[in-house]
Amino acid sequence: ESSTEIDVGSIEAGQAIKAVFRKQPLFVRRLTPAEISQADKVDASSLRDPQTLAERTKEGHLDMLVTMGVCTHLGCVPLGAAEGENRGEFGGYFCPCHGSHYDTAARIRKGPAPTNLVVPDYEFTSDTVIRVG
Ligand code: FES
Repeated sequence: ESSTEIDVGSIEAGQAIKAVFRKQPLFVRRLTPAEISQADKVDASSLRDPQTLAERTKEGHLDMLVTMGVCTHLGCVPLGAAEGENRGEFGGYFCPCHGSHYDTAARIRKGPAPTNLVVPDYEFTSDTVIRVG
């Protein structure tokens, strides 16, 4: 399978972009300092799918959240990557199909989804470019 290169350098804090990876939506979001602390103040062991923000991002890039844009319940595309979209009760992503709320680390916090939004395999090839897959 092919990999996808994405220039993430122009994403501003608080913004996200939608890309496509292997024909599925991919979200890349640059977190604000407030969104990072919101994610970090949660006791990860209390979560349905226990992961810290650091475990879901790359070292030195805690602010760059890369996930599939596919709800882990039944596969709808959650809202929250585009400007003005509903980000749900926890400020991350919201799946309107059956009401799954994801937090600023894209971890499932409320609703039927069983797991966090999936973080694909990726790496930074420079400070501003990631290669997914
Ligand atoms: Fe997202 Fe059901 S598909 S909540």
